[in-house]
Amino acid sequence: MTSQVLIVGGTSGIGRELAAAYAERGTHVVIAGRDSARAEKVAADLGGGGDGGRVRGIAVDLSRPEGIEKALGDIERVDSVVLAGMRRDSNTIGDYDIAGATELAVAKLVGYTTVVHALRSRISPTGSVLLFGGLAKDMPYPGSTTVTTVNAGVMGLVATLSRELAPIRVNAIHPGVVGDSPYWAGNEPVLEGARKRTLTGVLPTMRDMVDGSFFLLHNPAANGVNLSLNGGVV
Ligand SMILES: NC(=O)c1ccc[n+]([C@@H]2O[C@H](COP(=O)([O-])OP(=O)(O)OC[C@H]3O[C@@H](n4cnc5c(N)ncnc54)[C@H](OP(=O)(O)O)[C@@H]3O)[C@@H](O)[C@H]2O)c1
Repeated sequence: MTSQVLIVGGTSGIGRELAAAYAERGTHVVIAGRDSARAEKVAADLGGGGDGGRVRGIAVDLSRPEGIEKALGDIERVDSVVLAGMRRDSNTIGDYDIAGATELAVAKLVGYTTVVHALRSRISPTGSVLLFGGLAKDMPYPGSTTVTTVNAGVMGLVATLSRELAPIRVNAIHPGVVGDSPYWAGNEPVLEGARKRTLTGVLPTMRDMVDGSFFLLHNPAANGVNLSLNGGVV
């Protein structure tokens, strides 16, 4: 049976790169973002991979969890679930933006969990779930209050979900600043600052995140792992 993957946050960045890599392998991929037209357009751009892989786009809004069950209604079964979606917020305690903080906190903590809840009986028992956190959980920066706390919360999700979903495996990747991310494109001060703090002197790439994703999603012994991929940061 052809393997099936759902990538929420698959319309851009690391999620899109992973969708492209799966499509090339002949895997059936459903990518999701907030907007169905955008998701369908990205899916069309990625579709028809060399080995007959198919990519389909759907709308799932992680920051509106009440609608998630319905949005995933036509997924019959899935082997791998990847949760990468988020909209960053920049927030300090002194100038706290409640709406931005709520959107991000709900998306990563309640939204990710709701996707897993909705699909729990449709995930293959030999399948796995991969969450995306981030280096900010360990290394805060000005304005990272929400990003730091939700990415730390992803570690809590790995701990609880891996127990509750067993034998389905649950892991997370915590990327450092990914140098070729569309999100950082043109932001040389951030990229240069991150490069200087990286022990290898080389920022991780989206391809590095895809390699790590394949490892965690398909290695049968990888469970409950929070994998930092950042080149070593000081
Ligand atoms: N890139 C980095 O340097 C870096 C560093 C640390 C951690 N990370 C983590 O890695 C993951 C991917 O980051 P990225 O930079 O590759 O992503 P990105 O290019 O910023 O793309 C974000 C994705 O999330 C989707 N999204 C945003 N809000 C959503 C919502 N409410 N519901 C569903 N989907 C939503 C977007 O789709 P639409 O716009 O189509 O809705 C898009 O596909 C994130 O979880 C991030 O925290 C990345």
